[in-house]
Amino acid sequence: MGDVHPALPESAAIDGDGVLMLGGCRITDLVERFGTPLYVFDRASILERLSTCVTALGPNGSLHYACKAYLATWLLKLLRQAGAGIDVCSSSELAIAIAGGIEPQHIRLHGNNKSGPLLAEAIARCIGAIVVDGLAELQEVISCARGLRLRASILLRLNPGIEAHTHRYLQTGILDSKFGIPVTTGDARLAVGNALAAPDAVELLGYHAHIGTQILELEPYELLMQTLLSFAKEVYAETGYTPSQLSPGGGVGITYTDETPPSLASWIGALREQVERAGMGGSLHLSVELGRAIIGTAGTAIYTTGTVKRVGDIRTFVSLDGGMADNIRPALYGARYAAIAGTKMHAPNTQTVTLAGPYCESGDLLVAGVDMPNLDPGDLVVLPAAGAYCLPMSSNYNGALRPAVVVVDNGSAALVQRRQTLQDLLALDV
Ligand code: LLP
Repeated sequence: MGDVHPALPESAAIDGDGVLMLGGCRITDLVERFGTPLYVFDRASILERLSTCVTALGPNGSLHYACKAYLATWLLKLLRQAGAGIDVCSSSELAIAIAGGIEPQHIRLHGNNKSGPLLAEAIARCIGAIVVDGLAELQEVISCARGLRLRASILLRLNPGIEAHTHRYLQTGILDSKFGIPVTTGDARLAVGNALAAPDAVELLGYHAHIGTQILELEPYELLMQTLLSFAKEVYAETGYTPSQLSPGGGVGITYTDETPPSLASWIGALREQVERAGMGGSLHLSVELGRAIIGTAGTAIYTTGTVKRVGDIRTFVSLDGGMADNIRPALYGARYAAIAGTKMHAPNTQTVTLAGPYCESGDLLVAGVDMPNLDPGDLVVLPAAGAYCLPMSSNYNGALRPAVVVVDNGSAALVQRRQTLQDLLALDV
């Protein structure tokens, strides 16, 4: 993590004028060229996180980047370079992954309501694994594979009934969830039986589970691994079937303000330790699906300050030129972000402000109650850790145009996604 702020990339620095630099580029220069709101990704930071993860997993493991966190073709090139695969959860994500040159065997398909045509495409393309989310879907995969005279590689997504300490909307492993096949109700056992009874149509690679996101402790993962491994042992005792692959999903948290997540290497170490303890080391392949932990802190959002409004002694609102249309997370989950006065890095904090977006919603607040120096219209405000789940969840609310995206590296900046234009919006009208 960077010295400037724990949630900024390593490359973050401050120039002699007190201007924040990212990837060797002054943010004022970036804004002059590309405007605001601007999303800036640090290439070295992404490559470093990918390679840490791929190295820690070793030859008996694999990383499938969860592209729902952020997806664009420039990033697929880095994934290929790092030897990572991809986790997709829709036909569009699948199409983009393929267009970006990801080999089908490195693609894994998720979703709790995969359509027939999507399943057929995944099977026809012989993707690495379809992660089967329910008993009915399993039957559909079996009949589709038979129709195509192909054998689909599958993982069963189990619902382990585990509560991770994260926002209710971000938990996926509790029993009362739309995701996965519950272990405790007996459905998971039934699914294994059904899959093993159709060896002509499906190859059961093993078990998957995903318990949530922005998880900061190792404990829920240890519990998850124990649940998956004891399920595997029970199934073995009854049927003699041993999984060749186990996947605890993704969900490792990142630093937004002052959180201290486990390192990726220690997380992978803790997963492996559970496998060893269960006596299942050997050839068991461990596959993980990280999104946020790969891309989150590599991305930084830059906004321009507009109006400042003091409401008596209650609050000072500093309005920015972006907000819930490019980052819905504070409004949707109460997500907390740090804020940095990117053009006044040496100025002392003199006030507590609330950073508001320009959209017509009282809840359009990016950061509430943050200490800042005096901010004048035109000053740049930076939100670190904006790389995951901001742009993919962005909207055109109030006619907002989706921001431009720039990749910085070693003093150079490349525009990788242009800002949306009014013509783009009008082009949808028939
Ligand atoms: N695998 C599965 C099956 C998933 O559903 C997810 C995320 C991941 C992996 C990757 O999780 P990550 O490593 O990125 O935490 N919009 C929310 C996050 C939703 C996550 C959905 N699933 C947010 O802004 O926090």
